[in-house]
Formats: sequence, structure tokens, C-alpha cells
Amino acid sequence: MNWINVGNINDIPRLGSRIITSDWGKIAIFRTSDDQVFAVNNRCPHRGGDLAQGIVHGHTVTCPLHNWKIDLASGKALAPDEGCTRRYEVEVKEDGTVMLGVKASLKAVA
Ligand code: FES
Repeated sequence: MNWINVGNINDIPRLGSRIITSDWGKIAIFRTSDDQVFAVNNRCPHRGGDLAQGIVHGHTVTCPLHNWKIDLASGKALAPDEGCTRRYEVEVKEDGTVMLGVKASLKAVA
């Protein structure tokens, strides 16, 4: 696992997100109201909706297209919907630096 610095937690609004562009596509990094940070592929598992434009509540995001709810920790759609988007490991350092855990081949541009 490689860890890539993708900025500071304060760069991400609470209940919001920011996008990292990688050679695997766009990765949405979300910050919840309790300052947890999660990273998932920015494509909804239903029809590819832009999850970063969704509404964050608890540790889930609601897709803006058809309202599927995606669990940010697992990337899985909540029942009754079924599907999963890729999730990534995230670590927040004491100074607020957000580190994204990726395989060696990933290049990311914050
Ligand atoms: S594309 Fe996300 S709910 Fe349909």
C-alpha cells in the first residue's frame, strides 16, 4: 500500500467532498459531520452518478441522480438497492493531512 498526500482535512467542507483525479478515474473524498474522512470512486454503482454532488448524512451519501444511498465506509449501496463502488483507505494525520491508501500503480493529482 502506498500513501498519497491529498491535502488537508480543512480543505474539505463538512458534509462535503473534494475530487482527486487519478489514473483510475475520479475519487471523491468525503468529510462527515463528525470529521470522519472517506474515499470512494466517484461513480455511483447504479448508473454512474456523480457521488461528490450528493448529500452527505451520517456516514452515507445520497446519489443526486436517483437517490441511492451509498455507505461511505464500504462503498456498498444500502438496501433495498444493490451494488458497490470501490472504496479506498484513508488516514488523517494529527496535523490534518489526509493520506489516501492506494496500490503502487496509482498516480493521483489532488
Ligand atoms: S446513478 Fe446513482 S442512484 Fe442512479
